Amino acid sequence: MLQISVTKTTHPGSLPPADKLGFGSVFSDHMFLMDYSDAKGWHDARIVPFGPLSLSPAANVFHYAAEVFEGLKAYRCADGSVQLFRPRENMKRLNASAQRMGLPSVPEEDALQAVMTVVDVDRNWVPAAPGTSLYVRPFLFATDPTLSLHGVHEAVFAVILSPSGSYYAHGMNPVRIMLETDDVRAVRGGTGYTKCGGNYAASNRADAHAAAKGFDQVLWLDGVERKYIEEVGAMNVMFKINGTVVTPALTGSILPGITRRSCIEMLRAWGVPVEERLLSAEELIQAARSGALEEAFGTGTAAVISPIGELSFKGQSYTVNDRAIGPTAQKLYDELTGLQWGRRPDPFGWVCKVDGN
Ligand code: PLP
Ligand code: COI
Repeated sequence: MLQISVTKTTHPGSLPPADKLGFGSVFSDHMFLMDYSDAKGWHDARIVPFGPLSLSPAANVFHYAAEVFEGLKAYRCADGSVQLFRPRENMKRLNASAQRMGLPSVPEEDALQAVMTVVDVDRNWVPAAPGTSLYVRPFLFATDPTLSLHGVHEAVFAVILSPSGSYYAHGMNPVRIMLETDDVRAVRGGTGYTKCGGNYAASNRADAHAAAKGFDQVLWLDGVERKYIEEVGAMNVMFKINGTVVTPALTGSILPGITRRSCIEMLRAWGVPVEERLLSAEELIQAARSGALEEAFGTGTAAVISPIGELSFKGQSYTVNDRAIGPTAQKLYDELTGLQWGRRPDPFGWVCKVDGN
């Protein structure tokens, strides 16, 4: 067990009304911090008032980007209790990401305890309005105060909390997505399967181009052949083609999404055929043209289930399911959010109460 000291804020804030939350811009009263050095290992686990960090301007993270993060949510149930969704999976992925970046791993139990404890301290920041939750952002970065490239010997693990509403400003309305044919995000052997900040920085230019054309996000193609569908900026993608749900296989360059896996497990439990495989842009566009493409949607913690109403490829736009929310996306959304907010029984054992003691 970690010994976590708690210093409470003397200036507690208050939860804004649900319609003012947006995504990721309001923060709770406290945060969790823990330091690492080769000599001391992980030490000084603490919960302190949310506020600025003091770091050397030479800190590794600012120059060489040794940083990884996670994203999960705490949900308010009708009986007032608070629960998390598959948090252990996030901690496993955090460590898989850390390992790729040469960052020290955080023992899974300690990382879970950190998340549970800080959520518990700020449990009054878990909003209750429909569709809202407390977004939990664990992150881990190198603080070595030197410009020399000599590996990572000092680090910080932190957890901040952000009461949030819908990720997309237009809620669950279908999004417009552009297939990106110039920039690439990741290659096999690279960092695509990790949640490292650099992956998102590498996406900025294409995202800006897509936004300027009115699209919500880009759909990445593989970085080598530029032929196969990978994922969207903040979500994995699924396509219902002739009754089968097809999703890109985990080839190393895309994030192994926890929502993706949960959806696959639910679909298979319902008897819906699912294929995890290579899907070329050409096959997808052909399916859109012929009408075989029945639905398209993204999956992610922030995005939940996000229907895709339009795909654009090489300047040509294809409407999916008349820009309506399809039955598969709707059922996945209802079942997944039903479990997350405790409205439905949890046959999979995925939810985890934050007990409040
Ligand atoms: N792909 C990317 C690039 C993401 O940032 C996310 C969000 O975390 C996902 C996929 C979905 O992953 P998860 O379902 O674990 O949130
Ligand atoms: C999440 O869904 O948790 C994410 O990390 C999305 C974020 C990149 C906006």
